Amino acid sequence: MKHVVEIQGIDLFYTAFHALKNVNLSIEKQKITALIGPSGCGKSTLLRVLNRMNDLIPGCRVTGNILIEGRDIYGKDTDVCELRKKVGMVFQRPNPFPLSIRDNISFGLKVEGGHSSSFIDETVEKCLRDAWLWDNLKDKLNSPALDLPLDQQQRLCVARLLAVKPNVILMDEPCSALDPISTAKIEELMLELVKDYSIIIVTHNMQQASRISDFSAYMLLGEMVEYGITKQIFSNPCDKRTEDYITGRYG
Ligand SMILES: Nc1ncnc2c1ncn2[C@@H]1O[C@H](COP(=O)(O)OP(=O)(O)OP(=O)(O)O)[C@@H](O)[C@H]1O
Ligand SMILES: [Mg+2]
Repeated sequence: MKHVVEIQGIDLFYTAFHALKNVNLSIEKQKITALIGPSGCGKSTLLRVLNRMNDLIPGCRVTGNILIEGRDIYGKDTDVCELRKKVGMVFQRPNPFPLSIRDNISFGLKVEGGHSSSFIDETVEKCLRDAWLWDNLKDKLNSPALDLPLDQQQRLCVARLLAVKPNVILMDEPCSALDPISTAKIEELMLELVKDYSIIIVTHNMQQASRISDFSAYMLLGEMVEYGITKQIFSNPCDKRTEDYITGRYG
């Protein structure tokens, strides 16, 4: 299966407000896809639809189909907790739990239950290694996660997702609270992770989208205006509205 996520004819309403309008998009496996577009166009809304975080918003209504690895996630038999493990999310502000570094990573496994303490220790080490934190943090696994610098907190949030074995990682402006050096580290990490995971990132930073993404999707006022290979979208967009946005005419 080439596409890990299939978004088919999605309409979303916040009560009477039509926030996503017949959105169709197929997301490639083990690639980085950037969602771009001006503030309020529906980027975060579209991300939230993919792991049903919108279920928690009163008055929010969705129609259409979302297939993840071929399964309809709005189907009756979907276990939403399982879905959110498979489709993990990283937010604008790092949000580690107010627990130790170790307990942040082991949290999901402990909720699952039935794992030996040696398996949990191995997983903590592996996830911290995969998020490039092990060398920095191995001697202070019991320290509070909230004492870490912001960029390490953000990478810890990535490590926490990895512990429950996601297929898809959603990132909603993951670098917007970070300085340029920390941003570069997150971007490098994404380029490493994409060998194993499919990543969808929302970004306002056009340089970031063109540096790291394979595919880009441009949204405007709840519509998917244009989708394609990032190089092509940034050098030769088909739609005048995309061109206006990426050349900085508005947004
Ligand atoms: N919980 C909500 N209730 C009502 N309206 C909402 C809600 N969340 C978002 N909206 C509206 O839906 C539209 C899309 O919002 P969304 O947050 O998805 O945009 P965005 O592209 O992520 O914007 P930004 O770049 O500013 O983060 C906006 O008009 C917003 O005001
Ligand atoms: Mg947003």
